Amino acid sequence: MTKLEILTYPNKFLQQPTQPVDNIDEVIQKLVADMVETMYEAPGVGLAAIQVGSDKQVLVYDEKPTESDGGYGVIINPKIVETEGQIISENEGCLSVPDFRSDVKRAARIVVEGVDRDGKSLRFEADGFLAIVLQHEIDHLNGTLFIDRISALKRELYKRRMKKIMREK
Ligand code: NI
Repeated sequence: MTKLEILTYPNKFLQQPTQPVDNIDEVIQKLVADMVETMYEAPGVGLAAIQVGSDKQVLVYDEKPTESDGGYGVIINPKIVETEGQIISENEGCLSVPDFRSDVKRAARIVVEGVDRDGKSLRFEADGFLAIVLQHEIDHLNGTLFIDRISALKRELYKRRMKKIMREK
């Protein structure tokens, strides 16, 4: 397994359209394994392939990473097919958006469909923190960052701060 480099805002690749996986071959299996390692090392609770430079619709997650390192999930070609209610995701952050956190409105309950790494169909319901993590990662696969879901004013403040940091580098 290899730890991959995580792309960060304002890297344009993060807005790239992603492609469904139609053949879960060795390349995809290696991508999944590397993403899992990268997520745990970061550390993070989820990672989308686009964040490590692949345009494939693949995400990994572990909403309780401290409990055991093997408890992760993999969803290929994930889709949210139902949403219900609303919750505030407090202090949400992202490995691709360094040094910034914000509250984000999210659906309280979702139903997700996709396939697992063996190509078996998946369909399950998630609520609470897991629902937030999955919405965040599926957003990535649609080119959306959590800063696209906050007020324009807050987003501008972050963008300005990043520009300043990049100028100073
Ligand atoms: Ni993220």
